[in-house]
Amino acid sequence: MYKIHHIDHPILKHALTVLRNKNTATEEFRRHTAIISQIMIMEATRNLSTMQVPVETPLAKTKGSQIGQAIVLVPVLRAGISMLFAAKDFLPWAPVGFIGLERDEETAVARQYYQKFPSDLTNKLVLILDPMLATGGSLLDTVEALQQKGAVELAVVCIVAAPEGIERLKNVHPDIHIYTADIDSNLNRSKFIVPGLGDFGDRYFGT
Ligand code: PRP
Ligand code: URA
Repeated sequence: MYKIHHIDHPILKHALTVLRNKNTATEEFRRHTAIISQIMIMEATRNLSTMQVPVETPLAKTKGSQIGQAIVLVPVLRAGISMLFAAKDFLPWAPVGFIGLERDEETAVARQYYQKFPSDLTNKLVLILDPMLATGGSLLDTVEALQQKGAVELAVVCIVAAPEGIERLKNVHPDIHIYTADIDSNLNRSKFIVPGLGDFGDRYFGT
C-alpha cells in the first residue's frame, strides 16, 4: 500500500501559496493554516471505519453511520498546535496527547521538553500533527515516544515535507502513512526546508 499521500486540492494549493509568501502577515497565515489543516485531516481520516446505526428523522426511521474507530490527536508543540485548532471543530470528542520538541538552532537536533499522552493508545488511530517535516528527527522522536506508550496505528499529517525527512521516516517506519500538502526540493545548511515557508512556529505565533 502506498504510504506517502501527496494531497492535491486547488484550495489547499492556494492556501499553501499564501503560507509560502514571506509577506503574509500573522492573521492571514493563521487563517490559511486552518484551511489547509482541515482539508488534510479530512484526507487522513478518509478510511476511518464506520458502523451502521439507526436514526430517526422528523419523517421516518432510517440507517445512518457512526465513526467506529477511536482516534487520538497528537500535535507536536509548538507548531502542531496550529493544526489542532482546526481539528477540534470536527473531531471534538478525540482525546489529545502532547509532545514538546524544539530543534537546537545550531545542530537542528530536537530536544524533548514535554510529554503527556492519553493512557490507552492501543487500538486507536494516532494522528500526529506537525506542519513541518524537515530532517525527520522530531517525528522519529514522537513516533518512538508514542510506540513506547503502546501506539500501533500511526499517521503523520504535515503541511510541507522535505525528501530527506520522508526518506528517514520511511526507512525506520515503513508502515506509517504520511499525509502532506507538498514535498519540497531539499534542506539547506541550517536544515530548513527549501523553498519551504520559513520558521512555521515563529510565523504562526508571531514571535
Ligand atoms: C519545527 C517543526 C517540527 C520540526 C521539524 O519545530 O514544527 O517540529 O521543526 O524539523 P525536523 O524534521 O528537522 O525535526 P521547531 O523545533 O522549530 O519548534 P517549534 O514548533 O516550537 O517552532
Ligand atoms: N522547522 C520549520 O519551522 N521550518 C523548516 O523549514 C524546518 C523546520
